[in-house]
Amino acid sequence: MLQGKTVILGVSGGIAVYKAVELLRLLTKAGAQVHVVMTRNAQQFVTPLTFQTLSGNPVHTDLFSLYQEQEIGHISLADRADLFILAPATANLIGKIAQGLADDLLSTSVMATKAPVLAVPAMNTNMYENPLYKRNEKILLEHGYHVLEPATGSLACGWEGQGKLPDPETILETAEAVLAPKDLLGCHILLTAGPTREEIDPVRYLTNHSSGKMGYAVAAVAARRGATVTLVSGPTNLTVPTGVKCVPVCSAREMRAAVLEHAESAEVIIKAAAVADYRPAVRAEQKMKKTGDGLTLQLEKNPDILSELGARKGDKILIGFAAETERLLIHAAEKLKKKNLDMIVANDVTRLDAGFNVDTNIVRFLYADGRVEELGLMSKMLVAEKLLDQVARLWSAKRR
Ligand code: CTP
Repeated sequence: MLQGKTVILGVSGGIAVYKAVELLRLLTKAGAQVHVVMTRNAQQFVTPLTFQTLSGNPVHTDLFSLYQEQEIGHISLADRADLFILAPATANLIGKIAQGLADDLLSTSVMATKAPVLAVPAMNTNMYENPLYKRNEKILLEHGYHVLEPATGSLACGWEGQGKLPDPETILETAEAVLAPKDLLGCHILLTAGPTREEIDPVRYLTNHSSGKMGYAVAAVAARRGATVTLVSGPTNLTVPTGVKCVPVCSAREMRAAVLEHAESAEVIIKAAAVADYRPAVRAEQKMKKTGDGLTLQLEKNPDILSELGARKGDKILIGFAAETERLLIHAAEKLKKKNLDMIVANDVTRLDAGFNVDTNIVRFLYADGRVEELGLMSKMLVAEKLLDQVARLWSAKRR
Protein backbone atom coordinates (compact mmCIF):
# COMPACT_ATOMS: atom_id res chain seq x y z
CA MET A 1 0.00 0.00 0.00
CA LEU A 2 2.85 2.39 0.81
CA GLN A 3 5.19 1.44 -2.02
CA GLY A 4 6.09 4.57 -3.98
CA LYS A 5 3.78 6.77 -1.91
CA THR A 6 4.87 10.17 -0.60
CA VAL A 7 4.28 10.39 3.12
CA ILE A 8 4.71 13.59 5.10
CA LEU A 9 5.59 12.65 8.66
CA GLY A 10 4.68 15.55 10.92
CA VAL A 11 6.44 15.36 14.27
CA SER A 12 5.34 17.60 17.13
CA GLY A 13 6.95 18.00 20.53
CA GLY A 14 6.46 15.21 23.03
CA ILE A 15 8.62 12.57 24.61
CA ALA A 16 7.27 10.02 22.09
CA VAL A 17 9.24 11.74 19.30
CA TYR A 18 11.85 8.99 19.60
CA LYS A 19 9.22 6.46 18.47
CA ALA A 20 8.63 8.50 15.32
CA VAL A 21 12.19 7.61 14.35
CA GLU A 22 11.24 3.93 14.30
CA LEU A 23 8.03 4.75 12.43
CA LEU A 24 10.08 6.55 9.81
CA ARG A 25 12.25 3.46 9.44
CA LEU A 26 9.19 1.24 8.95
CA LEU A 27 7.68 3.64 6.42
CA THR A 28 10.83 3.75 4.31
CA LYS A 29 11.15 -0.03 4.59
CA ALA A 30 7.59 -0.30 3.25
CA GLY A 31 8.70 1.66 0.19
CA ALA A 32 7.37 5.13 1.04
CA GLN A 33 9.18 8.36 0.21
CA VAL A 34 9.08 10.17 3.54
CA HIS A 35 9.49 13.90 4.12
CA VAL A 36 9.67 14.90 7.76
CA VAL A 37 8.29 18.16 9.12
CA MET A 38 9.26 18.94 12.71
CA THR A 39 7.85 21.60 14.99
CA ARG A 40 10.23 23.72 17.04
CA ASN A 41 9.38 21.75 20.20
CA ALA A 42 9.92 18.39 18.51
CA GLN A 43 13.51 19.39 17.85
CA GLN A 44 14.06 19.61 21.61
CA PHE A 45 13.67 15.83 21.83
CA VAL A 46 15.43 14.48 18.72
CA THR A 47 17.56 16.43 16.27
CA PRO A 48 16.45 16.86 12.64
CA LEU A 49 19.68 15.14 11.61
CA THR A 50 18.37 11.78 12.82
CA PHE A 51 15.23 12.06 10.69
CA GLN A 52 17.20 13.46 7.77
CA THR A 53 19.67 10.60 7.81
CA LEU A 54 16.97 7.93 7.98
CA SER A 55 14.61 9.49 5.44
CA GLY A 56 17.31 10.50 2.99
CA ASN A 57 15.47 13.81 2.57
CA PRO A 58 15.97 17.23 4.14
CA VAL A 59 13.90 17.79 7.26
CA HIS A 60 11.56 20.77 7.12
CA THR A 61 11.32 22.96 10.17
CA ASP A 62 10.67 26.60 9.19
CA LEU A 63 7.72 28.23 7.52
CA PHE A 64 9.85 31.13 6.34
CA SER A 65 13.16 29.46 5.59
CA LEU A 66 14.40 30.81 2.28
CA TYR A 67 16.24 27.61 1.49
CA GLN A 68 13.32 25.33 2.37
CA GLU A 69 10.78 27.49 0.56
CA GLN A 70 12.88 27.31 -2.56
CA GLU A 71 13.43 23.57 -2.13
CA ILE A 72 9.89 22.53 -1.51
CA GLY A 73 7.70 24.99 0.41
CA HIS A 74 4.69 24.19 2.54
CA ILE A 75 2.22 24.20 -0.34
CA SER A 76 4.40 21.91 -2.37
CA LEU A 77 4.72 19.58 0.65
CA ALA A 78 0.96 19.61 1.03
CA ASP A 79 0.38 18.98 -2.67
CA ARG A 80 2.83 16.18 -3.18
CA ALA A 81 1.63 14.13 -0.17
CA ASP A 82 -0.31 10.91 -0.60
CA LEU A 83 -0.67 10.80 3.16
CA PHE A 84 0.10 12.93 6.19
CA ILE A 85 0.97 11.14 9.43
CA LEU A 86 1.15 13.27 12.57
CA ALA A 87 3.07 11.24 15.15
CA PRO A 88 3.27 12.18 17.89
CA ALA A 89 0.44 14.68 17.59
CA THR A 90 0.36 16.87 20.69
CA ALA A 91 -2.81 18.32 22.22
CA ASN A 92 -1.58 21.67 20.90
CA LEU A 93 -1.30 20.42 17.32
CA ILE A 94 -4.72 18.72 17.43
CA GLY A 95 -6.20 21.90 18.93
CA LYS A 96 -4.69 24.09 16.22
CA ILE A 97 -5.96 21.89 13.40
CA ALA A 98 -9.44 21.70 14.98
CA GLN A 99 -9.60 25.48 15.19
CA GLY A 100 -8.23 26.04 11.70
CA LEU A 101 -5.02 27.67 12.94
CA ALA A 102 -1.89 27.61 10.84
CA ASP A 103 1.05 29.34 12.52
CA ASP A 104 4.01 27.13 11.69
CA LEU A 105 5.17 24.91 8.87
CA LEU A 106 3.44 21.76 10.12
CA SER A 107 0.00 23.23 10.85
CA THR A 108 0.14 25.23 7.62
CA SER A 109 0.99 22.16 5.55
CA VAL A 110 -1.78 20.13 7.19
CA MET A 111 -4.29 22.85 6.46
CA ALA A 112 -3.16 23.14 2.85
CA THR A 113 -3.28 19.44 2.00
CA LYS A 114 -6.03 17.48 0.30
CA ALA A 115 -4.30 14.20 1.21
CA PRO A 116 -5.72 12.03 4.01
CA VAL A 117 -4.33 12.93 7.43
CA LEU A 118 -3.71 10.34 10.13
CA ALA A 119 -3.20 11.95 13.53
CA VAL A 120 -1.64 9.83 16.25
CA PRO A 121 -2.03 11.71 19.53
CA ALA A 122 0.26 11.09 22.49
CA MET A 123 0.10 13.02 25.73
CA ASN A 124 -0.39 12.87 29.48
CA THR A 125 -3.53 10.88 30.34
CA ASN A 126 -5.23 13.84 32.07
CA MET A 127 -4.66 15.97 29.00
CA TYR A 128 -6.04 13.19 26.82
CA GLU A 129 -9.16 12.93 28.97
CA ASN A 130 -9.67 16.69 29.12
CA PRO A 131 -13.06 17.49 27.51
CA LEU A 132 -11.46 20.35 25.58
CA TYR A 133 -9.02 17.95 23.96
CA LYS A 134 -11.84 15.47 23.30
CA ARG A 135 -13.87 18.18 21.64
CA ASN A 136 -10.97 19.02 19.33
CA GLU A 137 -10.40 15.37 18.46
CA LYS A 138 -14.10 15.00 17.67
CA ILE A 139 -13.92 17.98 15.33
CA LEU A 140 -11.08 16.30 13.46
CA LEU A 141 -13.03 13.06 13.14
CA GLU A 142 -16.12 14.91 11.94
CA HIS A 143 -14.03 16.54 9.23
CA GLY A 144 -12.67 13.28 7.87
CA TYR A 145 -9.31 13.23 9.63
CA HIS A 146 -8.19 9.81 10.82
CA VAL A 147 -7.24 9.49 14.47
CA LEU A 148 -5.45 6.49 15.91
CA GLU A 149 -6.22 6.32 19.62
CA PRO A 150 -3.28 6.32 22.01
CA ALA A 151 -2.34 3.14 23.83
CA THR A 152 -2.74 2.58 27.57
CA GLY A 153 0.17 1.96 29.92
CA SER A 154 2.70 3.76 32.06
CA LEU A 155 3.51 7.16 30.64
CA ALA A 156 6.83 8.98 30.65
CA CYS A 157 5.33 11.61 32.97
CA GLY A 158 4.81 8.96 35.65
CA TRP A 159 1.07 8.54 35.15
CA GLU A 160 -0.62 5.27 34.29
CA GLY A 161 -3.37 5.44 31.66
CA GLN A 162 -4.24 6.19 28.06
CA GLY A 163 -1.93 8.55 26.23
CA LYS A 164 1.03 6.51 24.95
CA LEU A 165 1.94 6.65 21.30
CA PRO A 166 0.91 3.25 19.87
CA ASP A 167 3.64 0.94 18.55
CA PRO A 168 5.13 2.09 15.26
CA GLU A 169 3.85 -1.19 13.72
CA THR A 170 0.29 -0.30 14.68
CA ILE A 171 0.71 3.19 13.20
CA LEU A 172 2.04 1.66 9.99
CA GLU A 173 -0.91 -0.76 9.74
CA THR A 174 -3.34 2.10 10.25
CA ALA A 175 -1.59 4.20 7.62
CA GLU A 176 -1.95 1.32 5.17
CA ALA A 177 -5.62 1.07 6.01
CA VAL A 178 -6.11 4.78 5.39
CA LEU A 179 -4.68 4.36 1.91
CA ALA A 180 -6.93 1.36 1.27
CA PRO A 181 -8.47 1.00 -2.17
CA LYS A 182 -12.14 1.77 -2.65
CA ASP A 183 -12.95 -1.86 -3.37
CA LEU A 184 -16.46 -1.66 -1.91
CA LEU A 185 -17.63 1.22 -4.06
CA GLY A 186 -21.24 0.59 -5.07
CA CYS A 187 -21.87 -2.01 -2.38
CA HIS A 188 -24.70 -1.36 0.09
CA ILE A 189 -23.82 -2.79 3.49
CA LEU A 190 -26.38 -2.98 6.27
CA LEU A 191 -24.75 -3.27 9.67
CA THR A 192 -26.02 -3.63 13.19
CA ALA A 193 -24.01 -2.74 16.28
CA GLY A 194 -24.27 -2.18 20.01
CA PRO A 195 -26.64 -3.74 22.52
CA THR A 196 -30.42 -3.67 22.61
CA ARG A 197 -32.35 -2.51 25.66
CA GLU A 198 -35.51 -4.25 26.84
CA GLU A 199 -37.45 -2.04 29.22
CA ILE A 200 -38.78 -3.40 32.50
CA ASP A 201 -40.32 -0.08 33.52
CA PRO A 202 -39.62 3.59 32.69
CA VAL A 203 -36.28 3.52 34.58
CA ARG A 204 -34.95 -0.03 34.22
CA TYR A 205 -33.99 -2.33 31.41
CA LEU A 206 -32.32 -5.63 30.49
CA THR A 207 -29.36 -5.50 28.16
CA ASN A 208 -26.15 -7.21 27.01
CA HIS A 209 -22.54 -6.13 27.38
CA SER A 210 -21.60 -4.36 24.17
CA SER A 211 -19.79 -1.08 23.54
CA GLY A 212 -20.56 -1.20 19.82
CA LYS A 213 -16.87 -0.56 19.03
CA MET A 214 -16.50 -3.57 16.73
CA GLY A 215 -19.58 -2.77 14.64
CA TYR A 216 -18.70 0.93 14.45
CA ALA A 217 -15.17 0.02 13.31
CA VAL A 218 -16.64 -2.11 10.51
CA ALA A 219 -18.95 0.77 9.55
CA ALA A 220 -16.06 3.27 9.46
CA VAL A 221 -13.80 1.06 7.39
CA ALA A 222 -16.57 0.00 4.99
CA ALA A 223 -17.42 3.65 4.34
CA ARG A 224 -13.74 4.45 3.86
CA ARG A 225 -13.52 1.67 1.30
CA GLY A 226 -16.38 3.16 -0.67
CA ALA A 227 -19.44 1.19 0.55
CA THR A 228 -22.81 2.79 1.20
CA VAL A 229 -23.28 1.97 4.87
CA THR A 230 -26.49 1.88 6.88
CA LEU A 231 -25.78 1.32 10.55
CA VAL A 232 -28.69 0.19 12.72
CA SER A 233 -27.33 0.90 16.15
CA GLY A 234 -28.46 0.11 19.66
CA PRO A 235 -27.55 2.67 22.36
CA THR A 236 -23.80 3.40 22.47
CA ASN A 237 -21.53 6.31 23.40
CA LEU A 238 -19.80 6.29 20.05
CA THR A 239 -19.66 8.91 17.32
CA VAL A 240 -21.22 7.80 14.06
CA PRO A 241 -18.33 7.45 11.57
CA THR A 242 -18.06 9.90 8.71
CA GLY A 243 -20.13 8.92 5.70
CA VAL A 244 -22.27 6.39 7.58
CA LYS A 245 -26.07 6.63 7.80
CA CYS A 246 -27.14 5.71 11.32
CA VAL A 247 -30.59 4.46 12.34
CA PRO A 248 -30.73 4.54 16.14
CA VAL A 249 -32.88 1.89 17.83
CA CYS A 250 -33.40 0.69 21.35
CA SER A 251 -35.11 -2.70 21.65
CA ALA A 252 -34.63 -5.91 19.66
CA ARG A 253 -38.05 -5.44 18.07
CA GLU A 254 -37.11 -1.92 16.96
CA MET A 255 -33.85 -3.29 15.59
CA ARG A 256 -35.75 -5.97 13.68
CA ALA A 257 -38.10 -3.40 12.13
CA ALA A 258 -35.20 -1.16 11.06
CA VAL A 259 -33.19 -4.07 9.67
CA LEU A 260 -36.10 -5.42 7.65
CA GLU A 261 -36.82 -1.95 6.30
CA HIS A 262 -33.26 -1.55 4.97
CA ALA A 263 -32.50 -5.20 4.14
CA GLU A 264 -34.20 -5.06 0.76
CA SER A 265 -31.65 -2.73 -0.80
CA ALA A 266 -28.61 -4.21 0.98
CA GLU A 267 -26.28 -6.65 -0.74
CA VAL A 268 -24.35 -7.45 2.41
CA ILE A 269 -25.74 -7.67 5.95
CA ILE A 270 -23.37 -7.81 8.89
CA LYS A 271 -24.93 -8.37 12.30
CA ALA A 272 -22.48 -7.30 14.97
CA ALA A 273 -25.18 -6.27 17.45
CA ALA A 274 -25.55 -8.03 20.79
CA VAL A 275 -29.29 -8.55 20.65
CA ALA A 276 -31.08 -9.35 23.89
CA ASP A 277 -32.64 -12.76 23.43
CA TYR A 278 -35.50 -12.07 25.87
CA ARG A 279 -37.62 -9.11 26.94
CA PRO A 280 -39.94 -8.63 29.92
CA ALA A 281 -43.37 -10.05 29.05
CA VAL A 282 -44.92 -6.91 30.50
CA ARG A 283 -43.38 -3.44 30.68
CA ALA A 284 -44.68 -1.67 33.78
CA GLU A 285 -46.23 1.72 33.01
CA GLN A 286 -44.88 3.25 36.23
CA LYS A 287 -41.63 2.72 38.09
CA MET A 288 -41.95 -0.54 40.00
CA LYS A 289 -41.69 -0.14 43.77
CA LYS A 290 -39.71 -2.46 46.01
CA THR A 291 -42.02 -4.98 47.64
CA GLY A 292 -40.96 -8.19 49.32
CA ASP A 293 -37.47 -9.79 49.24
CA GLY A 294 -37.31 -10.80 45.64
CA LEU A 295 -38.71 -10.18 42.20
CA THR A 296 -39.54 -12.67 39.49
CA LEU A 297 -39.62 -11.34 35.96
CA GLN A 298 -41.57 -13.14 33.30
CA LEU A 299 -39.59 -12.97 30.04
CA GLU A 300 -40.58 -13.74 26.50
CA LYS A 301 -38.41 -14.48 23.53
CA ASN A 302 -37.28 -11.77 21.14
CA PRO A 303 -37.23 -12.39 17.42
CA ASP A 304 -33.95 -13.79 16.10
CA ILE A 305 -33.29 -11.20 13.40
CA LEU A 306 -30.39 -12.99 11.77
CA SER A 307 -32.24 -16.32 11.56
CA GLU A 308 -35.12 -14.51 9.93
CA LEU A 309 -32.78 -12.97 7.34
CA GLY A 310 -31.11 -16.34 6.81
CA ALA A 311 -34.45 -17.99 6.09
CA ARG A 312 -35.01 -15.69 3.12
CA LYS A 313 -31.44 -15.01 2.19
CA GLY A 314 -31.70 -14.88 -1.60
CA ASP A 315 -28.36 -13.76 -3.04
CA LYS A 316 -27.46 -11.54 -0.10
CA ILE A 317 -24.22 -12.04 1.78
CA LEU A 318 -25.01 -12.64 5.44
CA ILE A 319 -22.42 -12.36 8.18
CA GLY A 320 -22.97 -12.92 11.89
CA PHE A 321 -20.94 -12.56 15.06
CA ALA A 322 -20.68 -15.12 17.85
CA ALA A 323 -19.42 -13.93 21.21
CA GLU A 324 -18.84 -17.05 23.28
CA THR A 325 -17.48 -17.99 26.69
CA GLU A 326 -16.84 -21.69 25.97
CA ARG A 327 -16.57 -24.16 23.05
CA LEU A 328 -16.06 -21.20 20.71
CA LEU A 329 -15.67 -23.01 17.40
CA ILE A 330 -18.46 -25.52 18.03
CA HIS A 331 -21.01 -22.85 18.97
CA ALA A 332 -19.95 -20.53 16.17
CA ALA A 333 -20.14 -23.31 13.56
CA GLU A 334 -23.63 -24.25 14.79
CA LYS A 335 -24.84 -20.65 14.44
CA LEU A 336 -23.29 -20.31 10.99
CA LYS A 337 -25.24 -23.34 9.80
CA LYS A 338 -28.49 -22.76 11.69
CA LYS A 339 -28.76 -19.11 10.59
CA ASN A 340 -27.74 -19.88 6.97
CA LEU A 341 -24.75 -17.49 6.95
CA ASP A 342 -21.85 -17.05 4.55
CA MET A 343 -19.50 -16.31 7.37
CA ILE A 344 -19.38 -15.84 11.14
CA VAL A 345 -16.88 -13.92 13.26
CA ALA A 346 -16.21 -15.79 16.49
CA ASN A 347 -14.57 -14.34 19.56
CA ASP A 348 -13.91 -15.57 23.06
CA VAL A 349 -15.22 -12.83 25.32
CA THR A 350 -13.61 -14.23 28.45
CA ARG A 351 -10.28 -12.76 27.32
CA LEU A 352 -9.38 -9.30 28.64
CA ASP A 353 -7.89 -8.14 25.33
CA ALA A 354 -10.91 -9.25 23.28
CA GLY A 355 -14.61 -8.54 23.40
CA PHE A 356 -16.38 -5.83 25.33
CA ASN A 357 -15.23 -2.26 25.71
CA VAL A 358 -11.62 -2.74 24.59
CA ASP A 359 -10.06 -1.60 21.35
CA THR A 360 -8.52 -4.94 20.47
CA ASN A 361 -10.00 -8.28 19.52
CA ILE A 362 -8.95 -11.84 18.78
CA VAL A 363 -11.28 -13.44 16.29
CA ARG A 364 -11.68 -16.41 14.04
CA PHE A 365 -13.52 -16.32 10.73
CA LEU A 366 -15.64 -19.39 9.97
CA TYR A 367 -16.95 -19.86 6.44
CA ALA A 368 -19.93 -21.75 5.05
CA ASP A 369 -17.56 -24.17 3.27
CA GLY A 370 -16.11 -25.26 6.62
CA ARG A 371 -12.88 -23.24 6.48
CA VAL A 372 -11.65 -21.57 9.65
CA GLU A 373 -9.22 -18.67 9.60
CA GLU A 374 -7.50 -17.62 12.81
CA LEU A 375 -6.47 -14.01 13.32
CA GLY A 376 -4.15 -12.99 16.15
CA LEU A 377 -4.57 -10.11 18.60
CA MET A 378 -5.21 -6.93 16.64
CA SER A 379 -7.04 -3.64 16.84
CA LYS A 380 -10.78 -3.70 16.11
CA MET A 381 -10.01 -1.43 13.16
CA LEU A 382 -7.73 -4.05 11.68
CA VAL A 383 -10.27 -6.84 12.36
CA ALA A 384 -12.73 -4.67 10.44
CA GLU A 385 -10.26 -4.38 7.55
CA LYS A 386 -9.74 -8.14 7.45
CA LEU A 387 -13.47 -8.78 7.63
CA LEU A 388 -14.12 -6.36 4.79
CA ASP A 389 -11.40 -8.01 2.69
CA GLN A 390 -13.59 -11.13 2.88
CA VAL A 391 -16.75 -9.14 2.19
CA ALA A 392 -15.11 -7.63 -0.92
CA ARG A 393 -14.07 -11.10 -2.07
CA LEU A 394 -17.55 -12.63 -1.53
CA TRP A 395 -19.26 -9.61 -3.08
CA SER A 396 -17.15 -9.61 -6.24
CA ALA A 397 -17.55 -13.42 -6.58
CA LYS A 398 -21.37 -12.97 -6.46
CA ARG A 399 -21.27 -10.37 -9.21
CA ARG A 400 -19.17 -12.45 -11.57
N1 CTP B 1 -28.82 -12.26 16.63
C1 CTP B 1 -29.94 -11.70 16.10
N2 CTP B 1 -31.11 -11.69 16.81
C2 CTP B 1 -31.16 -12.25 18.04
C3 CTP B 1 -30.01 -12.84 18.59
C4 CTP B 1 -28.85 -12.83 17.86
O1 CTP B 1 -29.89 -11.20 14.97
N3 CTP B 1 -32.30 -12.23 18.72
C5 CTP B 1 -27.58 -12.27 15.83
C6 CTP B 1 -26.44 -11.48 16.46
O2 CTP B 1 -26.44 -10.14 16.01
C7 CTP B 1 -25.21 -12.26 16.00
C8 CTP B 1 -25.69 -13.68 15.89
O3 CTP B 1 -27.11 -13.60 15.77
O4 CTP B 1 -24.77 -11.85 14.73
C9 CTP B 1 -25.33 -14.57 17.02
O5 CTP B 1 -25.78 -13.97 18.21
P1 CTP B 1 -25.60 -14.70 19.62
O6 CTP B 1 -26.23 -13.87 20.69
O7 CTP B 1 -24.18 -15.13 19.79
O8 CTP B 1 -26.42 -16.03 19.35
P2 CTP B 1 -27.83 -16.53 19.73
O9 CTP B 1 -28.43 -17.04 18.47
O10 CTP B 1 -28.61 -15.53 20.49
O11 CTP B 1 -27.46 -17.80 20.61
P3 CTP B 1 -27.07 -17.90 22.19
O12 CTP B 1 -27.52 -16.62 22.83
O13 CTP B 1 -27.83 -19.10 22.62
O14 CTP B 1 -25.59 -18.10 22.22
